[in-house]
Amino acid sequence: MSSLNESQKTIATVGIVVTLTVYLIRRRFRGATCKSLALLKGKTVIVTGANTGIGRETALDLATREARVILACRDVQKGENAAKYIRKYTPDGEVVVKILDLASMKSIRSFSEDILKTENRLDVLINNAGVFRPPLLRTEDGFELQFGVNYLGQFLLTNLLLDLLKKTDSSRIVIVASALLKRGRINFEDINCEKNYSKAQGYSNSKLAIAMFARELHKRLSADAESSSNGNNPSVYCLHPGVIDTEMSRYFPMFVRVLLSPIRWLFFKTPKQGAQTTIYCAVAGELKGVSGRYYGDCKEEPWHKAVLDEDVAKKLWEVSEKMTKL
Ligand SMILES: NC(=O)c1ccc[n+]([C@@H]2O[C@H](COP(=O)([O-])OP(=O)(O)OC[C@H]3O[C@@H](n4cnc5c(N)ncnc54)[C@H](OP(=O)(O)O)[C@@H]3O)[C@@H](O)[C@H]2O)c1
Repeated sequence: MSSLNESQKTIATVGIVVTLTVYLIRRRFRGATCKSLALLKGKTVIVTGANTGIGRETALDLATREARVILACRDVQKGENAAKYIRKYTPDGEVVVKILDLASMKSIRSFSEDILKTENRLDVLINNAGVFRPPLLRTEDGFELQFGVNYLGQFLLTNLLLDLLKKTDSSRIVIVASALLKRGRINFEDINCEKNYSKAQGYSNSKLAIAMFARELHKRLSADAESSSNGNNPSVYCLHPGVIDTEMSRYFPMFVRVLLSPIRWLFFKTPKQGAQTTIYCAVAGELKGVSGRYYGDCKEEPWHKAVLDEDVAKKLWEVSEKMTKL
């Protein structure tokens, strides 16, 4: 620095400080990494919403662990693009695209029938797909979109695939919720938003519902195991992935997305970083046999108290059975 004049020294110092600060901020927000080296050779995994974001990175990671990975996507072209991306890194991996639109019970049923007919095992089901704060839209069956896709669709899908999961030794069901579930409410008076709709509240409600489903499913599977001495029941894991720079903000106005982009780049996790807790729940050896717990940053976290209301969870299950004609 001795050959630099004063203003050049100042610019160089500011440059170094800014670079270091950016590096430290990005490091601070990147979250934990799944350390497991487990391989999944011979195992079959389904990832919903696998064409982009966290789902695609999860599918890529599991494919590199030699799993047969089924990308369950609603758009075949987007699914094939994701498969191409994954095959670039895992040329020998088995990556299959199948159509699943969680906003259509018909599609969920035909996807499940196909899986039950063609697959002889299902080791991990990852309920990852989701929509975030859309305007009031309805699924093919008339459900409010966030409640329909983020919760009801995955409730139906999981139940339809349960027998195959039960037939597979040490299978896992991984449910991607969100920390925003803490703002959720299950309002049985207006569960389908016929009277009121708020985008933000709708998202939190759907994530609270899927987390309650995770606990209730675990409870029912445990009771089933006790009464039928079936020790082979799937384990259920629920998680929040953090805040990640994905296509989640697609329903935001373009100017908001542009304004948010430096913040997203600086403070949000990348999709690969955001996928780590999902991967951890899907593969970590130390979680074998553990079930009905909640995770964030590759470690267990306490359930939010709203998730623990067992009467609401039971009623929600019964209402959901009726809504999905399970
Ligand atoms: N990003 C975050 O900060 C964050 C935070 C907390 C929780 N999460 C949760 O993480 C999960 C993954 O989100 P992401 O951030 O990766 O978002 P993303 O990039 O928007 O990906 C969402 C995925 O869900 C799929 N999807 C949406 N509607 C569907 C439907 N009807 N049927 C089947 N698939 C559907 C999308 O498919 P298309 O591309 O075809 O629409 C896409 O593959 C979601 O459950 C989300 O709620 C994300």
